[in-house]
Amino acid sequence: MIAEIKENVLYFDGCSTVELAEKYGTPLYVYSENAILKECNEIKNCFLDKYENTRAAYATKAFSSIAMCKIMDREGFCMDVVSGGELFTAIKAGFPAEKIEFNGNNKLKEELELAVDYEIGRIIIDGLQELSLIEEICKEKNKKMNVLYRITPGVDSHTHDYITTGKKDSKFGIPLDEEVIYPAIEAAINSPYVNFKGIHFHVGSQLFDNRSHLLALETTLQLVKKTKEKFGFDITELNVGGGFGVTYTDEQRKSYEYFLKPIMERIIEFSNEMGMERPAVVIEPGRSMVAEAGINLYKVGSIKNIKGIRKYVSIDGGMTDNIRPALYQAEYKGVIANKMDKQADEVITVCGKCCESGDILIKDGKFAEAEAGDILAIFSTGAYGYSMSSNYNKNPIPGVVLVKDGKSAEMIKRQSYEDMIARECYTEL
Ligand code: LLP
Repeated sequence: MIAEIKENVLYFDGCSTVELAEKYGTPLYVYSENAILKECNEIKNCFLDKYENTRAAYATKAFSSIAMCKIMDREGFCMDVVSGGELFTAIKAGFPAEKIEFNGNNKLKEELELAVDYEIGRIIIDGLQELSLIEEICKEKNKKMNVLYRITPGVDSHTHDYITTGKKDSKFGIPLDEEVIYPAIEAAINSPYVNFKGIHFHVGSQLFDNRSHLLALETTLQLVKKTKEKFGFDITELNVGGGFGVTYTDEQRKSYEYFLKPIMERIIEFSNEMGMERPAVVIEPGRSMVAEAGINLYKVGSIKNIKGIRKYVSIDGGMTDNIRPALYQAEYKGVIANKMDKQADEVITVCGKCCESGDILIKDGKFAEAEAGDILAIFSTGAYGYSMSSNYNKNPIPGVVLVKDGKSAEMIKRQSYEDMIARECYTEL
């Protein structure tokens, strides 16, 4: 068990959360390596080891750090990056460049130049002008890049509007209008500067239903078929994105197999019908790799009991280390980590310390009675927490610790006040 109770204290991957809070300070991001490895193993068992010519590219936007890149490399994963910064982090971690794939709807020229210089594995082209930009850079540098096209498959994935990405009305991908997509494919096939590999889609995030993936796949396979008919060209790679949902409160998580088995079966069936070699299949899981592997630890401070209305329990972090409740109305569960023997029968609202009424992490959650100095743990915070953190109100970004079998080590040091102002300057004008 990753989370367990010993002597009334919450332990996470063998470490006392109270001791972690004392040793590293709060707020604190804590990741269980065993929980991350469990995700890797599930993907290996039902996908990577089961089918040849498959890859899993961890979407590092969920949590990007040198340590995480090293773990992913050791586990044989590839890496999906979406910015020069994520690319740079992976390269600095010694992550093999040929296993990096670059997504994003507005890759800057300097970011593409970096990608070409490092000779990364794939660039996933997201718009019509991007091919010309890549060609220009490759021509100048005498390089040839592997590329895919990200399409907008036109499916609505029924998740929060901000994290649905596969609809036609989207800033992501290339729409499937015949007069748009086929000239683009033809240009890539004929380009001397790129190897056109195939098609990418990502339908949305935090999904519990495989229908959006399967609908998008159907559209993609039609594209593969027509590309063969029109240009006599066999597409050799399909990237079906990420989006596999996780448990924050009481969601019933679906297995990777639930999503991937029907996808693989359909692609195999299609390839047989077409008499073509099955394309490589790539997935890009982000959230599911790290969300449940992470918890946040806070110290309880001021408590305000507004009679007949609500009890506000303030902690020493907030929207600066987890923006998701404020941004997406995301819900979380938590516990008082040093009172695991006490009944969680008090309804409280856990709020942060930012000057913002919306800085609430858990509204009306059930906890043991909280007192100043208690350690409050919030679960499933490993994805899009640290990576979306900010310095609002000049709150320093908390440290990040990795735990495994009772051992712990810092992955990212807590930001100091000095760190925060290190790049600031003033010249009187
Ligand atoms: N591939 C592409 C092209 C993506 O756009 C994304 C996520 C992923 C893979 C990974 O998806 P995942 O497996 O994590 O669902 N900040 C939001 C999530 C934004 C997701 C954006 N794209 C949140 O906190 O819910």
